Amino acid sequence: MKRSGGTDAEKRRAGERAAAAVSDGDVVGLGTGSTAAAAIRALGRRVDSGLDARAIPTSHQSRALAREAGIPLLTLEEATPDLAIDGADRIAIPDRDGSPVLIKGGGAAHTREKLVDSAAERFLVVADSTKLTDCLDSPVPVEVLPDAVPVVERRLSALGGDPTLRAAERKDGPVVTDNGNLVIDCAFGPVDDPDSLAADIAALPGVLDHGLFVGLADVVYVGTDDGVDVYR
Ligand code: 5RP
Repeated sequence: MKRSGGTDAEKRRAGERAAAAVSDGDVVGLGTGSTAAAAIRALGRRVDSGLDARAIPTSHQSRALAREAGIPLLTLEEATPDLAIDGADRIAIPDRDGSPVLIKGGGAAHTREKLVDSAAERFLVVADSTKLTDCLDSPVPVEVLPDAVPVVERRLSALGGDPTLRAAERKDGPVVTDNGNLVIDCAFGPVDDPDSLAADIAALPGVLDHGLFVGLADVVYVGTDDGVDVYR
């Protein structure tokens, strides 16, 4: 479901810009994926130079990267994030007032990402230029209890979706999330009313959470060929 084309340089520029927004004393939610990883590495370099920042990871991957980068870690029991930095698979910027709408979950970490990103006082999105879209038509990832897959698939179809259980790329069997659950990618065509679709999917028994992030993002940093575009 990921679109290719975003360069590592774009991801690095976006990640560095978000890491530069961290202030002394901040607790930072750390997202998952390659662009969040660029931000984690940039934050690690700032910590190495004396910045006092601690972090709450959203996945096994971001925890391991933060450890490697020398960033002290906390849990949500110990602190509330001042800001969160996280990637996205698709980003729609509204024409008028309103917060950008995201589709996340390409890395199957969206449940914990939504928990941490929404707990933060500010949520900074980092992305390469291929993630911007006028039309949110990518499949929506839905994390589901393993036993609930057939029931949830039927209910997603009844909502007008076309559900596919996500298969692991390098071995037989499904993708298993950090929480021990499975992921259904559900295509709905163009999502015209993300608020209402988000509420409908979230209400299904057996669903942990889905990858529609509505009303959460405060700022989006998009890496370009020679800089960073900022959307608020
Ligand atoms: C993981 C995510 C990622 O943030 C999203 O897939 C973007 O990843 P990348 O920066 O590698 O393109 O939502 O669940």
